[in-house]
Amino acid sequence: MKILAIESSCDETAAAVVEDGTRVLSSVVASQVAVHHVYGGVVPELASRKHVEAIVPVVREAIETAGIDRSELDAVAVTQGPGLVGALLVGFSYAKAFAWGLGIPCVGVNHLEGHMSSIFLGDNPPSFPYVALLVSGGHTSLYYVTGPTEYELMGQTRDDAVGEAYDKVSKMLGLGYPGGVVIDGLAGKGDPKAISFPRPYLDKKAFDFSFSGLKSAVGRHLKEFPEPDEERLRNIAAGFQESVAEVLCHKLMYAAKVKGCRHVAVVGGVAANSRVRDMVAKAASRRGLSFHTPELKYCGDNAAMIGAIGYHRFMEGSTLGLNDDAYSRARLPSNTKHK
Ligand code: KG4
Ligand code: ZN
Repeated sequence: MKILAIESSCDETAAAVVEDGTRVLSSVVASQVAVHHVYGGVVPELASRKHVEAIVPVVREAIETAGIDRSELDAVAVTQGPGLVGALLVGFSYAKAFAWGLGIPCVGVNHLEGHMSSIFLGDNPPSFPYVALLVSGGHTSLYYVTGPTEYELMGQTRDDAVGEAYDKVSKMLGLGYPGGVVIDGLAGKGDPKAISFPRPYLDKKAFDFSFSGLKSAVGRHLKEFPEPDEERLRNIAAGFQESVAEVLCHKLMYAAKVKGCRHVAVVGGVAANSRVRDMVAKAASRRGLSFHTPELKYCGDNAAMIGAIGYHRFMEGSTLGLNDDAYSRARLPSNTKHK
């Protein structure tokens, strides 16, 4: 079955056509990074306006690239939340109207479940059960996953999400928004041992995270060296990234051990991080675990992942009515088994 998927929860307007929840026939992402870059973060009102401009051409391109006629679509899936509510409403209202116009069902999905499902888009999906680390701009959580829509939350951040910490550190270093890719690039040229930042484990045997202290440690270092030269900038980036990667990797491996899982996954925008990917891949291989992470294009926000989870939600019979609304705060859908 073919699903048109739409995503507009933050600063990317995206549409995709996905077959049976795994085969991506098209995936179009219109990024607003250039618009928000000058403000050092996403400006919600600007995001909504840009979504309004982009939604029609992005959906048209997704259907054209898939090489199908819209009459061949079986359903529409759309991000219902969490996210910026003005931004969400653009994709959400459009999706409901589009589906209604075609006389096909519309499924509302949770953005986080979209990220979780992104690993099923490639040709190396994990088998159940597995432990997944969801690391994005808004979330840092560890889940024990027993089925396509069955997650047990094992731990989450108590303060900043890891992507948020990257963005804030980038701002402190004067490197702009979004910070993840820039710091990742700089870190690759620095020495991770030159400046040692703390490893915020909280408790090595617990699954919650905390990144605000690490961010403050970078701030304190910058007070001591207020005008870092290029070499120091690289070393700060490398030291910060090493600390993040070690903590994420440790907690993921420990979670797999506690649950007796043979498969681990990392998903979300920060799953694109080169050091996290590398460190987790090596740690998993040493322990004989299989490691799964999406292709880079499906780590950050995209609509293909919305089509992947939309398929499962549709099969479960969950469809939207025209009166249903978007939601801004994180919430797991009511039929998610959340022990
Ligand atoms: O999943 P995502 O696109 O959006 C949310 O749902 O939040 O994640 C965006 C986050 C941003 O904070 C961005 O800085 C971070 O992912 N990010 C990275 C990298 N690429 C994106 N963080 C570290 N290294 C990267 N290569
Ligand atoms: Zn996201």
